[in-house]
Order: sequence, then structure tokens, then C-alpha cells
Amino acid sequence: MPDGQLKSWSEGCAVNECVALTFDDGPSDFTTPRLLDVLADANVPVTFFVLGGQADTFPDIVRAEHDAGHEIASHTWSHLRLPSLDEKQLASEIDDTNRVLADITGMTPTLLRPPYGATDDAVAAAAADAGMAQILWNIDTRDWDHHDPAQTIAAAAAAGPGSIILMHDVHASTVDAVPGVIAALRGRGFTFVTVSQLLGSTTPGERYFSG
Ligand code: NI
Repeated sequence: MPDGQLKSWSEGCAVNECVALTFDDGPSDFTTPRLLDVLADANVPVTFFVLGGQADTFPDIVRAEHDAGHEIASHTWSHLRLPSLDEKQLASEIDDTNRVLADITGMTPTLLRPPYGATDDAVAAAAADAGMAQILWNIDTRDWDHHDPAQTIAAAAAAGPGSIILMHDVHASTVDAVPGVIAALRGRGFTFVTVSQLLGSTTPGERYFSG
């Protein structure tokens, strides 16, 4: 097995300190392919919370993410605030995305990240209906806000064991930060895993902020 990579939680995160890098809002044809190169060079698996609409537009990029061993998860179809939707809209935001991702990767996602982290009991019920756990985060780099690689690196470097780190692969400044993020966390001895590897089995509808 390549250095610094784990096949499952049981093989490693019980004894090694793991963190999960996560990237939302893509794929972008401007920035995501370069991120994939950076991650391949560093041999780091991550989790992509993709938008269904973007995945439908750029299926080859999602396929490349999947083929490189990254985890493909859902960030809904169109990035709406889910608690403001009725039951039917909510189901289509989740189900349409899962259908497109299953078509591309052959796997139906089991992890859902509600846009803005906005969720409520109805969202939890819809996620549970779709067999999906809700994945939030405990380290927010705010990369989308400041567009400053140094700030993104500093925020990510504050992670602890089991942290789920939020970034966005649609910003060039975030891709610029990723080598520094990886170096900082590797320097502290962390092993990079996907969210599913970090959490092991999850309960549909349940919210998770860290491993
Ligand atoms: Ni988002």
C-alpha cells in the first residue's frame, strides 16, 4: 500500500492520527484538474462533495476523481438552502444528484453535505430516506472568503485527530494552498483518509462533524 494511505478505518485510524480533506462545489474545469494533479503527486486521497449540476456538466472530471481513488459524495444538485425547500424539491436535490453520480461512477453516494451546513429535521429525514449520512466539518478554512493560500494553510494546520477540513476546489487560490496544507499536516504526523475511511460505517440521517 502506498505510504500514508489507508484502505479502511480499521487498518489505521485507530492507531494513526487521521484527517480528511474535503472539497465542495465542484467539479470546475478551471481548477479541479490541477487539484487532481497536486493530489496525485502527493499521494493524498480526499473527498469531493460535488454538485449534481456540475457533475452533469463535467462527468469526465468526476470520473477522473473516482478513478484516482478519491471519494465522491453529494453536495446536492444546485446548492440551495435545504431547510427552505418543500419535501419534493428536497428529494429531487438529493435523488437527481445521486442518479447522475451513480451513472458516472457506478456507485451511489452515501454521504451528503448540506450547502452552507444548513440542515434541520426535514433534511435529516430526507437524507435518511436516501440512505445518506450528513457530513459537516470541524475545520473551516474559509478559503472561499479570503482567497489567501497562507490563511487556508494556517486554518487547515489547526486540525486535530479526526478533523474534517472544509475547502472548495472551485478557487485557484485553494488549489495553490493544497501543497502547503498537505505539508503542514504531514509534518504533524497526520495520515490523509477519505471521510468514509475516517468515519467507518455511518448512520443515515445522522450528522457528523469529525471522526
Ligand atoms: Ni458549498
